[in-house]
Amino acid sequence: MKAMKKLLHYMAPYKFFAIIGPLLMCVEVLMDLLQPTIMQKMIDTGIVNQDNAYVIKLGLLMLLSAIIGLIGGAGSSIYAAKSAVHFATDIRRDVFKKMEQFSNQNTDSFGTGKLITIATSDVETLKQAVIMTLRMFIRGPLLFIGSVVIVWVTARELFPVLLVVIPILVACIYFFSVKSGKLFLKVQKAMDQVNTKLQEMLAGIRVIKAFDRQDYEKNHFKTVNDLLMKRNMTAEQLILTLMPIMMFIVNIGMIAGLWMGVIKVNEGTLQVGVILAFINYLNIMMNGLMSSSHVLMQIARSFSSAERINQVLDTEIDITEPNKPAAMDCFNGEVEFRDVNFSYSKNGNYVLQNISFKAAPGQTIGIIGSTGSGKSTLVKLIPRLYDPDSGEILVDGVNIKDLYLEKLRTAIGFVPQKATLFSGSIESNLRFGKEEATEQDLEQAAHSAAASEFIDRLDEGFAYNLMQGAANLSGGQRQRLAMARAFIREANILILDDSTSAIDALSEAAVQQELRKEYPDATVFIISSKISSIRGADQILVMKDGKLEAIGTHEELIKNSKVYSDINISQSGREVQYG
Ligand SMILES: Nc1ncnc2c1ncn2[C@@H]1O[C@H](COP(=O)(O)OP(=O)(O)OP(=O)(O)O)[C@@H](O)[C@H]1O
Ligand SMILES: [Mg+2]
Repeated sequence: MKAMKKLLHYMAPYKFFAIIGPLLMCVEVLMDLLQPTIMQKMIDTGIVNQDNAYVIKLGLLMLLSAIIGLIGGAGSSIYAAKSAVHFATDIRRDVFKKMEQFSNQNTDSFGTGKLITIATSDVETLKQAVIMTLRMFIRGPLLFIGSVVIVWVTARELFPVLLVVIPILVACIYFFSVKSGKLFLKVQKAMDQVNTKLQEMLAGIRVIKAFDRQDYEKNHFKTVNDLLMKRNMTAEQLILTLMPIMMFIVNIGMIAGLWMGVIKVNEGTLQVGVILAFINYLNIMMNGLMSSSHVLMQIARSFSSAERINQVLDTEIDITEPNKPAAMDCFNGEVEFRDVNFSYSKNGNYVLQNISFKAAPGQTIGIIGSTGSGKSTLVKLIPRLYDPDSGEILVDGVNIKDLYLEKLRTAIGFVPQKATLFSGSIESNLRFGKEEATEQDLEQAAHSAAASEFIDRLDEGFAYNLMQGAANLSGGQRQRLAMARAFIREANILILDDSTSAIDALSEAAVQQELRKEYPDATVFIISSKISSIRGADQILVMKDGKLEAIGTHEELIKNSKVYSDINISQSGREVQYG
């Protein structure tokens, strides 16, 4: 309920539509309520007295009221849809905006499957609730109250029937609404699981095929899909059984009304038309209650959706802008870690421990260490993809938490370990690094990243279109483009996380040479599992289990670091010299 209220301000710009819709609905309801009374007059006055002119007049009146009702109904639907669709679109826009601001930690905590469900089906549920509310919230109760009042005025003799029927109907609806709200919550949870699985399967389809795991994945999907089906079935069946139950109660009411009515007609205290009108009103009343109950159920469903949407909108972004930003425009590229500790889980399971080092501007820093030793995590802290649990990271002597995120990140060219490219042309992917890049910039960056060679061979050149996930490129080509995208930034700090793992040794040496020639002032971090990639670095950080085991130049480490010299021995004979 509270969650829904919080989202209500999204309706403000569409107030006009939201008011005019229900108003037009009132017109339709009034016309609907008028019909049985006109019919009753037609029977009791016109037909009984065989007054044909009167019958035709009332017939035309019925037609007219039906037409007015139609206009009201159609108009109300149009305006209700207008406001609800805008309302949902605006919410979806803000949800997207917020998700974009999410830190990695924020995204990890939701899971992408759930985030997709929230942005799609939860927003849709909310939209449906708004449409239903605008159309039915007035219609249902108005039809119900209107018919009760009319029966009271025109068929008071049969009113006792309503006194029995109404409480039973209301109790039924209450029971079903509460139950369906709870069931729908379970449906949504199952939907999250289906979306998560689906997303995982699509992302990993090649691996699944290569390992011939289709059957395993199919079974896994079947489990979550079956759960969704079961929960959906229970929820839908519950909602659908409400109608026949209500019909049954109303039918009993009709029989009772007929029975009482016939007795009174025989006594001469009631006219036949009144009984007919009563039965009609009983039906209208049930319709009114049914509509109200559908609205209530839809609203109950939408509460949980609204809550989930608010969870996203209210998420505190844990990587925040500084309160008092440091006045700094350009960087020299000095990077310093001071006793940095970091854990993903924040439960003391440190992935980085007591990391301290200082990289002078223009230096090349190599990082080596076994898999899982924390190399990628260490460099992810520099552009603040994550914040350390304790300790400080400084750029040019300023804590990075005191820098505007945008300023910090534009000063960094980052080549992530997994080269993620976007669908679109090669050019648009490179421009991701620098929007206003000239043709020359593009060519220079591609050249430095040893990507020119393959781009030149493409008929379309830089206009070559990448498919989703750059599926139409080889692993090495993807890495080259990811590097070019970082180089084009002409950043002061360049981070290459194992970015040459799929590139042959000669090309790698060429890239490194180019890099130092073209960007001599940049501080470059090179993570690699190969000594050959980092041996020329000014400083090499040797990582082991999240700790800095040693730091120094290649020659120093050969002497002083057991881990480094072990790696060196295991790789000797496979090195490629460069420089
Ligand atoms: N998003 C994450 N959430 C939780 N734990 C993570 C996450 N990313 C990495 N880890 C854990 O942190 C540790 C260090 O990971 P990291 O990616 O920094 O290793 P690495 O040295 O780069 O390894 P590799 O050479 O294989 O790339 C690993 O134990 C890993 O399981
Ligand atoms: Mg890594």
